[in-house]
Amino acid sequence: MSPGKILLVDDDRNLVELVMLRLDAAGYEVSAVLLAEDAVETAKAQVFDLSLVDLQLSHQDGISLMEQLHLIIPEMPVIILTAYGSIESAVEAMKRGAYSYITKPFDPRDLLYQIERALENRRLTSEIKLLKGLLEERYDFVNIVAKSGKMQRVLEMVSQIAVMDSTVCIRGESGTGKELIAKAIHLASHRKNKSFVAINCAALPEPLLESELFGHERGAFTGAIRSTKGLFTQAHEGTIFLDEVGDMPLSTQTKLLRVLQERSFYPVGSDKLMGVDVRVIVATQKKLEDQVKQGLFREDLFYRIHVIPILLPPLREMKEDIPPLVEHFLKKFSILMRKEVKGLTPLAMQRLMLHNWPGNVRELENTVEYGVALTQQDVITEDLILQTQADISKQPLTPLKEAKDTFERSYLIRLLELCEGNVSRAATLAGKYRADFYDLLKKHNISKTNFKKSGHEV
Ligand SMILES: Nc1ncnc2c1ncn2[C@@H]1O[C@H](COP(=O)(O)OP(=O)(O)OP(=O)(O)O)[C@@H](O)[C@H]1O
Ligand SMILES: [Mg+2]
Repeated sequence: MSPGKILLVDDDRNLVELVMLRLDAAGYEVSAVLLAEDAVETAKAQVFDLSLVDLQLSHQDGISLMEQLHLIIPEMPVIILTAYGSIESAVEAMKRGAYSYITKPFDPRDLLYQIERALENRRLTSEIKLLKGLLEERYDFVNIVAKSGKMQRVLEMVSQIAVMDSTVCIRGESGTGKELIAKAIHLASHRKNKSFVAINCAALPEPLLESELFGHERGAFTGAIRSTKGLFTQAHEGTIFLDEVGDMPLSTQTKLLRVLQERSFYPVGSDKLMGVDVRVIVATQKKLEDQVKQGLFREDLFYRIHVIPILLPPLREMKEDIPPLVEHFLKKFSILMRKEVKGLTPLAMQRLMLHNWPGNVRELENTVEYGVALTQQDVITEDLILQTQADISKQPLTPLKEAKDTFERSYLIRLLELCEGNVSRAATLAGKYRADFYDLLKKHNISKTNFKKSGHEV
């Protein structure tokens, strides 16, 4: 077996030939390219153990190429080849993550020595990581992974604003961690020992939403047999999290505006004004500015809630967070499933790095969960990662009835996840009557309660 696969990137043909000869003689498997673009393509197609990169490539500098390569193969050591006299840039390269550098012209024996050392070092670090169980890096907030600059700035912001009582508006695509950040704000505030109450404003029809939020008096509407306290009252002295606030109906928005301005509200059907002390955090996937333009969102409310905006970037814009997130979820699911899964194979990790993540961190979390659940070894191999339609169609055929049942079951699970256990909404989306939908759930032995987030019975 070869001691390692090496990617060599240099536009000096003579040097490439020379180095290839030497490395080949030492038993390494070498792929050489002259252009940075080709280097990226080659790294996407195969996994390398190490890469040698010229600092001054003709179209791109070696440092930015190195960073691109690290986004594809995160733990691969890179040795920079540099011309005599550009030591400063070489030092810069090391700061940005190069393993070491070597000045041209070099003695091939030095190069071989550096390569061996880098590979040995990499083996040791991954062993140490395994020994430590799983990589445990300290971040400011337990359970939140934030390695990229973008995410670290979010956390800095969270710790600055947590102590204030101002309203926070968190924006981000689905699965970017909006609820997680809202909880982190609550936990870092002086309200942390009081309740954190969450509600998805898109999941309930208007009258129900109002009575959920503000409570109602007995007899306020048909079916209101008892008077109930609303979530604002439950969140007194704590925090209320209004998810998908962009979908809140206009009449409810008016009531919310009043709470924000005067810290008081009337429960549905009551003329007794209630005072509350709550911190409000809202989240939305939609651009509220557009909702305002379309007349779907009150402009005055928009300014009220937009006091502190926090934007959560999509995962595809912070791929350096993928490896630590994977470690985090591996640990979580290994404990939950009582399995000792230590890591991913390099090819599996590369698949994760190359994926576009439309479902963001949640999709990554599900991917790791799937891998941990299905692996029969102590590592997750690439065949368990992000199976494509083509992979699935290679699986053995089952009888049609069985295939239909499997599909139906996973469809129902996805639907309930989406609707957070709200059966009326799930039934509507599926185009089924509620009673028929319940029959389906019964057939597959699925319980809606497993999908509830804040325990609202609808
Ligand atoms: N930076 C992170 N570190 C660790 N776990 C994270 C991070 N971001 C998100 N997660 C996890 O990903 C999952 C999705 O996060 P969350 O529910 O907060 O996202 P969301 O933006 O509210 O999604 P949606 O828009 O679908 O409601 C959760 O299990 C959460 O714990
Ligand atoms: Mg959410």
